[in-house]
Amino acid sequence: MDILHYQKDFLEYLDSKEWVREPKNLYEPIDYIIKLGGKRMRPVLTLMAADIFSKDYKKAMPAALAVEVFHNFTLIHDDIMDDAPLRRGKATVHEKWNLNTGILSGDAMLILAYQYFENYEPIVFQKLAKLFGKTALEVCDGQQLDVDFETRNDVTIDEYINMIRLKTSVLVAAALKMGAIVAETNEENASLIYDFGLNLGLAFQLQDDYLDTFGDPKTFGKQVGGDIIENKKTYLYLKALEVSCEAEKGKLEHFYRNKLKENSIKIAEVRRIFELNDIPFLIKQEITNYTEKAFNTLSKMSIKDSDKQGLRDFGLWLMNRSV
Ligand code: IPE
Ligand code: IPE
Ligand code: MG
Ligand code: MG
Ligand code: MG
Repeated sequence: MDILHYQKDFLEYLDSKEWVREPKNLYEPIDYIIKLGGKRMRPVLTLMAADIFSKDYKKAMPAALAVEVFHNFTLIHDDIMDDAPLRRGKATVHEKWNLNTGILSGDAMLILAYQYFENYEPIVFQKLAKLFGKTALEVCDGQQLDVDFETRNDVTIDEYINMIRLKTSVLVAAALKMGAIVAETNEENASLIYDFGLNLGLAFQLQDDYLDTFGDPKTFGKQVGGDIIENKKTYLYLKALEVSCEAEKGKLEHFYRNKLKENSIKIAEVRRIFELNDIPFLIKQEITNYTEKAFNTLSKMSIKDSDKQGLRDFGLWLMNRSV
């Protein structure tokens, strides 16, 4: 179970596809975002799960591609919604082209993702399509909550966790479950691997929030401080409100009431308050907690120890990433 091995296999499959067709203005942005790179963690999870529950993980390639194309569609639309200039170290689609291109190329990718399920026989197809439909709608729910929270000042940590479960975790969980579905394993295995993915996904989004503020701009690939600029109610912010003194709390709330044209002072001040209050440590603790929760689910599963270790290694890799 080697992450790099699955990544490489998946990339070969991805590169074997012809992404550009007419009209070029619709498909070139798709080719651009798809080939921009990224960790490819969701398709890797689909392949890993298929490998664990069957021995022909290549059967899961179309499902893995569906998940990755859907993910890249959400990134295009997410970058519009978050007004983000950078993705994987390059200009975002709506910056490089324009808003309308981002909207329609994204829409086309959602449809393409669905079409990859046509590679499967009716029973598997139906299970995949059902899970995918449910998941895609949940991601929309989560994305709407994320945006709603920008202008709310009473968001709780529980609400935040629910929001990231929807916008991020369910897709990580579904990626794994799709591998299980393609492998035609039993419902119990499929549901346990889904639960593993849910907790791993929460840890993953917490780490994403951490990196958005404290990542290295040279390697992160996205605009560092973007969440602060956009007044995102991340765990960093919500925890800081909980533990900081009245003066700092007031300052944070003041900063997060408006969107500014010039953000360098806001970013520096907010980071300073986070650091003063040990928030980087506290979020790391939370990341470890959810990763451990995910690992606990593994102990309930009747799969080989080496497979459990593979999934554990994946979790540790995610937790320690800088991108
Ligand atoms: C970014 O996902 C969007 C989130 C859900 C945080 P990734 O961090 O998996 O992005 P890539 O695909 O590796 O670029
Ligand atoms: C995005 O969360 C989740 C989805 C794309 C559905 P973020 O907005 O934090 O993702 P990044 O940081 O832009 O990749
Ligand atoms: Mg974003
Ligand atoms: Mg977002
Ligand atoms: Mg983020």
